[in-house]
Amino acid sequence: MAHQPTTTSINRAAFLRSLGMSAAALSALYFQGCTKSDSVVADPTDGTDSAGVAVGNTNPGTGKIDFTLDLTRPENAKLKTAGQFVTVGGVVVANTKNGTYVAISNECTHDGGPLWYRISQDDFRCPWHGGLFNTDGSVKMAPPRTAEQLYKTTLSTDKNTLYVTG
Ligand code: FES
Repeated sequence: MAHQPTTTSINRAAFLRSLGMSAAALSALYFQGCTKSDSVVADPTDGTDSAGVAVGNTNPGTGKIDFTLDLTRPENAKLKTAGQFVTVGGVVVANTKNGTYVAISNECTHDGGPLWYRISQDDFRCPWHGGLFNTDGSVKMAPPRTAEQLYKTTLSTDKNTLYVTG
């Protein structure tokens, strides 16, 4: 008779996120522990952690994503510029190359790494093993095999508030 598992397993990144670590802190921690020199490549894009200034649920693990970003706040103002992104809890929000906002899960479907938007390639890159995702969430380059979760973004008419749901 087979034994049924009685515990829930989560990957390392999900566990660290549950402790409240930001994407930047996760990246730093991973870089320290990584021994494969070809598995980590620094990304020139500058991300910001805006988890502390979002209003609403930013964590996919605690229910439906539903939060608001005030783009007039210093932590979020960079999102008014194409190519910039912020990490908001478990979500990365980017103002993409064509000026549209994309919100995507900040947990790589390969092994849970963070994602960074790159305007030059118009994609999201995972620094852990170099996986790439298109802005529609589909896999652009392995090792990931599964598409990322996308969330709906709605910009207010005055362009000062961004709503993310899904
Ligand atoms: S965790 Fe391996 S490519 Fe993202």
